[in-house]
Amino acid sequence: MQSFTYKKKKRANQSLLGTLGEMKVHPTRLIRTLFMVILVLFVFLNMHVLMHFEPRNGDEINISLLRKLRHQGNWGDTAHVQTHLSELSDAKNANDSSGLEVFIPINQYNKTFLHRDIEESNLTQIHLEIERANREQFIHNLNKFGLKLKADSLVIVVQVHDRSQYLQILIDSLRKVNQIKDSLLIFSHDVYSDELNKIIHSVDFCPVMQIYFPITLQLHPKEFPGQDPNDCPRDVKKEEALKKKCNNAAFPDKYGHYREPKYCQTKHHWLWKLDRVFDKLEVMKNYTGHVLLLEEDYYVAPDIITVIQMMNNLKKRDCKECRMLTAGNYDKTQSFVVNSGKVELATFISSRHNMGMTFARDLWNEIKKCAREFCDFDDYNWDWTLQHLSMKCISNKVQVMKMKATRVFHMGDCGVHHKGKKCEPLVKQKQIEKILQDNQQHLNPNVMKVAGTSKIKIRDPKPNGGWGDIRDKRLCHSFVSAEDERKMQRFMKSNDISILTG
Ligand SMILES: *[C@@H]1O[C@H](CO)[C@@H](O)[C@H](O)[C@H]1NC(C)=O
Ligand SMILES: *[C@@H]1O[C@H](CO)[C@@H](O)[C@H](O)[C@H]1NC(C)=O
Ligand SMILES: *[C@@H]1O[C@H](CO)[C@@H](O)[C@H](O)[C@H]1NC(C)=O
Ligand SMILES: *[C@@H]1O[C@H](CO)[C@@H](O)[C@H](O)[C@H]1NC(C)=O
Ligand SMILES: *[C@@H]1O[C@H](CO)[C@@H](O)[C@H](O)[C@H]1NC(C)=O
Repeated sequence: MQSFTYKKKKRANQSLLGTLGEMKVHPTRLIRTLFMVILVLFVFLNMHVLMHFEPRNGDEINISLLRKLRHQGNWGDTAHVQTHLSELSDAKNANDSSGLEVFIPINQYNKTFLHRDIEESNLTQIHLEIERANREQFIHNLNKFGLKLKADSLVIVVQVHDRSQYLQILIDSLRKVNQIKDSLLIFSHDVYSDELNKIIHSVDFCPVMQIYFPITLQLHPKEFPGQDPNDCPRDVKKEEALKKKCNNAAFPDKYGHYREPKYCQTKHHWLWKLDRVFDKLEVMKNYTGHVLLLEEDYYVAPDIITVIQMMNNLKKRDCKECRMLTAGNYDKTQSFVVNSGKVELATFISSRHNMGMTFARDLWNEIKKCAREFCDFDDYNWDWTLQHLSMKCISNKVQVMKMKATRVFHMGDCGVHHKGKKCEPLVKQKQIEKILQDNQQHLNPNVMKVAGTSKIKIRDPKPNGGWGDIRDKRLCHSFVSAEDERKMQRFMKSNDISILTG
């Protein structure tokens, strides 16, 4: 049968196999030769496919690494090629301008921070300086780094109050982060101070911008949003307050308490900052990528950017409905050995997912759509309020992808809510650095995988109060209302707060 087929073929392809035919050899020998040729072709084709394998997102990948992984029979992991570390670093190394959303070349600007002598006790000077800084939107260090942002870049926004020692430690941790020079680092302040500015001006490892929340307690110590002498004291009864005719007599919170200015500022600042970063900063207009939110008393691991980029790649495939990536967690014991490259999927819970939150415009737009709910919810905690939005306003709730081994540490757990605990920033820093040092070989995981989904039942959280005052609600609304920018400019000129709260 075989030889018959061969003969037919030979006749049909006389010219092709002519040379073979002239050799007048035995058919079985020719079959063997043909078999060899086909085998060689097969192997060649396989090699070809291997050499030209392209990952789905089309980025260049490190072929020798890929081969090594395959050689190890590590097919399960190469199936996760989208989330592979080598892919990220290769994409970064390529001098490839495709996909650039924001581009400011090096040496376009040579300006550095100007030292301005601001009299810190002169609130007029501070107001003018804040207005100028927010208008100019100056980015420091462009002379060194330029700015190139793509959809897979990371913009880091730090909300800063007044704890300079923590801020210094956070910046020291950011200095050690891989690829930090490719990010834009934005500090959002609610206190203007020389001391804080000096610390930020010492950042020489990436492009930096400072923005200033303009309606602060510092600038309005004796009127809203500060403590007006005619505001009702926290614990006065409503009937008594109405008799006294103090300013906010009609608006205690749901527990019957009147507002405490220092607790209200953070929620205002949080919403203002997001609006500013996503919608108002010129440099961010074209940017579609993720924004990482940090606070002054956090400490970040050196692989945080890499890890967030890998999570984002994993999200595209394994959790399209995830709208938030969380690089940190509060677990008492952290096992980097077991969990370094593992994530968990969950629905947003403020007490678990508020540290190292990372998201893009899609979630910001959802928050904005729910701004009325955000500003009216009687709770002064922005994260608690966000969980309420997730449960009651944002469609499909906020789905989160969370690192199982934390890349963010909370140093200042003796802040607003932790009175009595002793604050030892330097001791805390040492402890965190020891954890990172001990686990150095487990940072920068090669592969990122989903390892479980949290089954915790979540409810709409009960509001904690502290946010009953109509002026807080109105001020909050003013940040995201249609005519917010015009009103804000009028306010900045006149410094008349009633423009925003009236
Ligand atoms: C690719 O990976 C191999 C093995 O990890 C490494 O030695 C080599 O330098 C990498 N090549 C590039 C271009 O990154
Ligand atoms: C990278 O691109 C810039 C401009 O697009 C070019 O001037 C520079 O020479 C390139 N660098 C390398 C290493 O190719
Ligand atoms: C944003 O995109 C526009 C249009 O492509 C471009 O002219 C502008 O320079 C970009 N902005 C930045 C900051 O790169
Ligand atoms: C900035 O400085 C660099 C090097 O000092 C110089 O080459 C460049 O022309 C300067 N750019 C501008 C806009 O002044
Ligand atoms: C505060 O600064 C403003 C603007 O620079 C100046 O006009 C004013 O005299 C200063 N006030 C005091 C008390 O120094």
